[in-house]
Amino acid sequence: MSAKQVAVIVGSLRKESFNRKVANALIELAPQEMSAEIPAIGQLPHYNQDDDDNGRPAAEWTTFRQRMAGFDAVLFVTPEYNRSVPGVLKNAIDVGSRPYGKSIWSGKPAAVISVSPGAIGGFGANHHLRQSLVFLDMPCLQQPEAYIGGAAKMFNDQGKLTSDDTRVFGNSCTRLTSGLTPTLVRRSSSAALDARASISRLKPSVENRGRSFPISAGINGPKSSPISTRID
Ligand SMILES: Cc1cc2nc3c(=O)[nH]c(=O)nc-3n(C[C@H](O)[C@H](O)[C@H](O)COP(=O)(O)O)c2cc1C
Repeated sequence: MSAKQVAVIVGSLRKESFNRKVANALIELAPQEMSAEIPAIGQLPHYNQDDDDNGRPAAEWTTFRQRMAGFDAVLFVTPEYNRSVPGVLKNAIDVGSRPYGKSIWSGKPAAVISVSPGAIGGFGANHHLRQSLVFLDMPCLQQPEAYIGGAAKMFNDQGKLTSDDTRVFGNSCTRLTSGLTPTLVRRSSSAALDARASISRLKPSVENRGRSFPISAGINGPKSSPISTRID
């Protein structure tokens, strides 16, 4: 199987960004089946719908949209600004989401890491971002969650993770990326489409509430055991 191409979108433009350092550390630790890189977003002009409607999108938007279309999945690594995501990240998301019906995000698996020097690890930004991902139809890795706090103490003078943090971080990254990879496999297999169809046939109803239903297609491939879904 060829390596899955993962875009690591970093929500900070700061030269000494903790988020960028985390993103770089994660790229170094990525498993062989993933090839990850950081597409730039700081050069994107503010999104203005008129430019798409008039058929004159900014050249930077077009380049970004074309580049993003080539990735299999997206890992967001973002700071928290005023309990939400930085404008530069939201702008990149908006640019990629239009023109209407041509979103480059649609269907791409995603994972979110938030990083902050603060104690709560950018929880607010992490979940604000997830709200957008729902609308963008990006299946998002649920576990492990990654709210990295105390980021100012994680790096040495060379911008590398300190040894203790490397160990802890390495474990977390392995769990995170190994979670993202099955998400990719699921998404790309036709079995997943069958499973989605099965789910959509299960109409929520009073008599079905609380019951579990097997999904006939093995969502992780033909050899995996069937999983079930539950209506609540
Ligand atoms: C405009 C602005 C708003 C911020 N709001 C928050 C916040 O809501 N929560 C938080 O934990 N840190 C907040 N911070 C501090 C950032 O977490 C800190 O600047 C961090 O280093 C930014 O990430 P970076 O190092 O990747 O650039 C804010 C910083 C700025 C500049």
